[in-house]
Parts: sequence; C-alpha cells; structure tokens
Amino acid sequence: MGKIVIANWKANKSIHETSEWIKNTRSKLEESENKIVVAPDFVSLPIAASLLKGTSLGVCAQDVSMFERGPYTGEVVAEVLKELVEYVLVTHSERRKYFQEDDSTAVKKVKMALKYGLKPVLCVEGSEELRDYLDLGGEYKGILVAYEPIESIGTGKPEEPARAREVLDQLRSLLQAESILYGGSVTDQNVSTYVDLGFDGVLVGNASLDSEEFCKILESV
Ligand code: PGA
Repeated sequence: MGKIVIANWKANKSIHETSEWIKNTRSKLEESENKIVVAPDFVSLPIAASLLKGTSLGVCAQDVSMFERGPYTGEVVAEVLKELVEYVLVTHSERRKYFQEDDSTAVKKVKMALKYGLKPVLCVEGSEELRDYLDLGGEYKGILVAYEPIESIGTGKPEEPARAREVLDQLRSLLQAESILYGGSVTDQNVSTYVDLGFDGVLVGNASLDSEEFCKILESV
C-alpha cells in the first residue's frame, strides 16, 4: 500500500503561491502511488480544492472548530470544511503551544471531524498524549495519528530512528489498525528512514514549501 504524505504549509503561503505550487506540481504528483495531501491555510482551501478536484490528491485543513455551526467568531466548522477537504489536522504542536489546545480539545475536534465524515490527523508529541487522549474518551476508529516530537519540528533535527521506532511501537500498542505518520524535519535525505521503520507516511513542513524539494521527498518515499 502507498504511504500518506502530507504537505503542511502552516501560515507560509499566499493564495497565489498556493495556486502556483499546485499548478506546477499537480500532474507530477498524480503519478505517485502514494496518497499526497496538501494542507494550505483556510483562505487558500477553496483554490486548492478546485485545482485538485478530480485528481488523486487530497486537501487537508490545518485546524477544525470543536463547535457546531453557530455564533463562534473566527471559527471554521467541520460541516462547512467538508465541502472542501477530506482531512483535518487536529492539535498540531503549534496549536498546543500558541493556542492552548490540549488533549481535551483534541477529543472534541476529532469527534466533530468524524461526525462530518472528515479524516482527522491527530498530532501528538509522544505516546503519553495519545494515552491521555484515549483516557479522555477520544475516538480512535477512522483517525490518523501523526507523531511529531516537539524538538524536531522546524529545527532540522529529526528524531533519532531508534527512539522513533520505540514511540511507534508504543503508539501501535495503543492503536492497532490506524495509520501512524512521522513528522519533524523530514527531508528527501531522511524520509526513507521513517518509512522503513514502519510509519505509514509523513507530515512535512518546511521541506514541502518548495515544490521541487517536495517532489524529491516523494521520490525517496
Ligand atoms: P517541519 O514541520 O517539517 O518543518 O519540521 C513538520 C510539522 O510541523 O508538521
């Protein structure tokens, strides 16, 4: 089975840049056997969804509201997102760090995403967080988990393979059937290490911003 490769552009690209990246790369990415998913910011989702309509590529939102449609200024709800995306990131470590999101937020957001048929990518910094999430009653069927050690995100210091393997085993013992991804300073030089360890795919930040660099990652998956 192919791997899942998610390009997380965070708050880095303008609408125009998002559209250029997709137009320049779309046909090449379609040749891949892997499931490729792009995660632009909210305002670029409509153009991304429209440019990728009818292709094998997926679109992911970087966040989802824990609320239903209603008076929540600034929020974007799952019921509306589902018109544009297939996946949503939940509690990425930057959401935990700058927006005080935690495992109980994750429980609510994952539930909301699943209710509207979206695939949540639950981001955790280790197996303890996943355990806490499950202890709080978090749904586990139909989710993807991304293991992203905080010291590896955006630092150019990917996780030691032995440690990544250890955490992967711990995560697997908690969640048998669901896909588990690795994220944190993934490049074309190291991606095969994490795939070979048994991760079902990768979440790529910095190295996904440049389309050529991202294509090199795909060649190495
Ligand atoms: P990075 O980001 O690849 O720049 O380390 C990964 C992520 O935050 O998802």
